[in-house]
Amino acid sequence: MSERTLVLIKPDAVRRGLTGEILGRLERKGLRIDAAELRTMDPTLADAHYAEHVAKPFYPPLKEFMTSGPLLALVVSGDEAIAVVRALSGATDARQAAPGTIRGDLGLSNRENLIHASDSTASAEREIALWFPKL
Ligand code: TYD
Ligand code: MG
Repeated sequence: MSERTLVLIKPDAVRRGLTGEILGRLERKGLRIDAAELRTMDPTLADAHYAEHVAKPFYPPLKEFMTSGPLLALVVSGDEAIAVVRALSGATDARQAAPGTIRGDLGLSNRENLIHASDSTASAEREIALWFPKL
């Protein structure tokens, strides 16, 4: 069944010139790019986007990082897109993420881990509404 998911190519990836590499992996997999916008997350959007994490000890440095520069926000669609993009992304901690995944191949940090991808149908709906209210 075709699904939509929210993807953020994070500020570390933009700074390192890896947006094309990551976008290419999503496209080569057969996923579609329905929307794309380069923008900088403001603190209010960060708190809303990461509502489940705002009270956690790792949140202040995460917020600092996520608002530190432009990121590429995407709506990506395709068959089982939510699970497929999570699988392509790899484990949260890029140091432990499997080779072959975006985080496993390109990252070495538990915080600056290149990509965000919605983790469920409910998250995808909530996050797409937050980032692309017109879609
Ligand atoms: P989380 O939703 O657990 O991971 P994922 O991005 O794989 O869904 O956490 C959100 C982001 O918070 C994660 O991408 C990186 C950051 N983070 C830390 O900086 N330290 C941590 O210990 C964890 C668990 C996450
Ligand atoms: Mg998450």
